[in-house]
Amino acid sequence: MLQFELLKTDDAQGDYAGSHARRGRLTLNHGVVETPIFMPVGTYGTVKGVLPRSLEEMGAQIILGNTFHLWMRPGQDVMASFGGLHQFEKWSRPILTDSGGFQVWSLGEMRRITEEGVHFASPVNGDKLFMSPEVSMQIQTLLNSDIAMQLDECTPYETKGHITTEREARQSMEMSLRWATRSRDEFQRLQNPNALFGIVQGGMFENLREESLEQLVAMDFPGYAIGGVSVGEPKDEMLRIMAHTPHKLPAHKPRYLMGVGTPEDLVEGVAQGVDMFDCVMPTRNARNGTLFTRFGDLKIRNARHKTDHQPLDPSCTCHACAGASGVAWADGGRDGFSRAYQHHLDRCGEMLGPMLASIHNLHYYLNLMREVREALDGGRFGEFVRQFKADRARGV
Ligand code: GUN
Ligand code: ZN
Repeated sequence: MLQFELLKTDDAQGDYAGSHARRGRLTLNHGVVETPIFMPVGTYGTVKGVLPRSLEEMGAQIILGNTFHLWMRPGQDVMASFGGLHQFEKWSRPILTDSGGFQVWSLGEMRRITEEGVHFASPVNGDKLFMSPEVSMQIQTLLNSDIAMQLDECTPYETKGHITTEREARQSMEMSLRWATRSRDEFQRLQNPNALFGIVQGGMFENLREESLEQLVAMDFPGYAIGGVSVGEPKDEMLRIMAHTPHKLPAHKPRYLMGVGTPEDLVEGVAQGVDMFDCVMPTRNARNGTLFTRFGDLKIRNARHKTDHQPLDPSCTCHACAGASGVAWADGGRDGFSRAYQHHLDRCGEMLGPMLASIHNLHYYLNLMREVREALDGGRFGEFVRQFKADRARGV
């Protein structure tokens, strides 16, 4: 089941020239998702270091899981015994699972990709394994994710030491199309009650992306993703693809840009007509001590924070910052940790450090998307983008 309601499209009015931004509402088996939305990544059935109830409090509407990782561990038997990923990880709102295409590709030398599927050695115990479109659909059906992704081949920016040629990108894209058909057929055969998305590939070649998009649209998926972005290409190439593809997808279906990106990338993606984003950046950067704030990025490891009593971001309402305007816990208590304290936690390698940083960064991303939705509702997206850019460039 999937319904997508297009609530509003940005008329731009000279405000943000060429904006394709939209406000939408996605109804899935486990609930409603207001778009544009950022989806926190929970690869192994956990958004690293963050309780599901904290995610709910932050306003996470949908999170990711990963077919490949959950197939390795805990495996299909455990997942089946729980009746799916929701019950296992104790998350009751919608889940999207990536198909494994991107992760298997990331194995590098450990895998061999054929028309049939991907042969590889388990990174966990070395067992010989095989992932095909059919296997991916079988696992995603067991996981019972609200949105499943087709198995695809993520075309890299570089192949064997050279920039991927058009010929190589075409072969890869065409195989992904054949895998899209096989994914869809298996998904239907399994009578999976959820939704399956197709993934546009084609590397950095606009003509290939158009062909991929047309063929997928002819297959009438309930939603479409743009893959093969943020795969080692220069930033201007990524922006070129982001400006090329999203608005060409069917207006009345959700559009998902996979694995992107920085706060600036998300806002640009929305302007180009993207509805859904996921990225490890807020959680991964949190673990490396990089914090996103309204006024730019902050490195908590920097010695200048050693004695600073301010919260990470005085305007932030997350549980790590929770200043005067901050949200309170259910019992009315507030936290509000100083930069000095978080600098100290980082220096000592204390686990509360990355936990607080993850909460803060996810809150930042989710709140940014909330502000984007409100700006779109109020017909002031262009004004919002200008202020956002000015604030972020100011620096902390
Ligand atoms: N995550 C980021 N990019 C991709 C992609 O191209 N394909 C898949 N399946 N997942 C991704
Ligand atoms: Zn915060």
